Amino acid sequence: MTENLEREYAPQADDSILGIITPAEPYDLVPTIVEPTPEQVTEALNAVQLASVEPGFDIEKLLRTKIRSSHNHAFFIVDLGILRGQVEKWRALLPRVEMFYALKCNPNPIMLKQLIGMGVNFDCASLSEIKTVMRLGVTPDRIIFANPCKLPSHIAFARTARVKMMTFDNEDELRKIKKIFPGARLVLRIATDDSAATHSRLSTKFGAKEAEWGNLIKVAKDLKLRLIGVSFHVGSGCSDAKAYDSALQAARRVFDLAETAGFKMELLDIGGGFPGTDTGKPTFQQIAEVVNPVLTSLFPPHVRIIAEPGRFVAMRTHTLAVTIHSRRKTPEQRVYYVDDGVYGSLSCIVWDHQHPTPFPLGRNVHERPRYPSTIFGPTCDSIDCIGKDIDLPEMQVGEWFYFKDMGAYTAASACQFNGFLTDRFFYVDSKQTTTARGKRPSTPLRDVVKQPKVQKQTVPPTARPPPS
Ligand SMILES: Cc1ncc(COP(=O)(O)O)c(C=O)c1O
Repeated sequence: MTENLEREYAPQADDSILGIITPAEPYDLVPTIVEPTPEQVTEALNAVQLASVEPGFDIEKLLRTKIRSSHNHAFFIVDLGILRGQVEKWRALLPRVEMFYALKCNPNPIMLKQLIGMGVNFDCASLSEIKTVMRLGVTPDRIIFANPCKLPSHIAFARTARVKMMTFDNEDELRKIKKIFPGARLVLRIATDDSAATHSRLSTKFGAKEAEWGNLIKVAKDLKLRLIGVSFHVGSGCSDAKAYDSALQAARRVFDLAETAGFKMELLDIGGGFPGTDTGKPTFQQIAEVVNPVLTSLFPPHVRIIAEPGRFVAMRTHTLAVTIHSRRKTPEQRVYYVDDGVYGSLSCIVWDHQHPTPFPLGRNVHERPRYPSTIFGPTCDSIDCIGKDIDLPEMQVGEWFYFKDMGAYTAASACQFNGFLTDRFFYVDSKQTTTARGKRPSTPLRDVVKQPKVQKQTVPPTARPPPS
């Protein structure tokens, strides 16, 4: 059986024309991302210096301090206190729902380490993400492989790593899983009405439609596979809490169909889509107020409820500061060129449809004349535009802009196009000692992130290759 499988998915002689790919194991048909070694990760984690700051601290003052200490390139401030606060808020407002953080949103290892220490679990989309969290000590039972269309080599890796829980949404995927990992615990991802999603309509790509559920359940039964639950994603940046209600009703209908077919349904995964900040509607609390009673009425206590939030966890944790390295003046307007852009940490503008607001940082900026201003990133591409015709005070070369709430789908999707990449991360702990319920957080930060041995503060996120 295994031999057949290996033959079917093993690289063929012709694969060698792909040149540099030398498969290390039978299923390794794809070039693996160059990742930091465990030693590099440990070294980076140990080198982190955490500055302790008061909640509600003055971010501009902190940015000025960092800039003064001769950092003349773009950098991030990462506040682990905010991260901890988000987890505590989640647990207070959605107490029945276990968090499986979607690390695609931001795989920063310091954040992951903090989340691991707080008992958060993980949604991984690929072999590389599974490796990333397992290398940090996460056991396979704390991972859901939540990509409904997986590479065969990644399924094989999940089998080897004993990551059993995985999603699917079509018949071919079921047959593939049957061949490679018949012992997997399967979660049927269903399509939802995601028209209210402001950032990404995921059901245009994934999710079985209602008309397909019956057949998928039958095929799973015929193949003697283990269907254990249902998942959905209402779309990233959901602007209508009712989307969760109708998705939950749909999930219940799948439960009923599957239970009638003889499956023991024990897991419901309510996906992501939760807001990163409370500035828009619905707020996280408003979504929780819709979700909680529906969970109680539709899903009995033995059903384990999980979710895969990304944006909710990461967005508020990061502030990005960029420096103006060049300027172009006309009598009517100003054009600024800064050292990070849409190919880098501001990739969220292109891929995640975000509109980050630039805040000027300089002496007496509010007393200066104002101009319609355009801000470009550092590459030679004209698409590398952060904002056009923004009303801003006159800024000088060498001064700075900063952007708040830059932790979701930013550094994670940055690339090194034209040789630019922001790789400086400064960590602070804003001592958010109270939770949404007013309790102290369960895990103090010092217990999960070691104090520094050296005065160095730069940490490469796992998404970045180590220096060769
Ligand atoms: C399968 C899956 N789960 C979770 C997430 C995280 O979504 P969000 O950041 O909206 O919470 C995504 C985002 O693309 C996803 O594809």
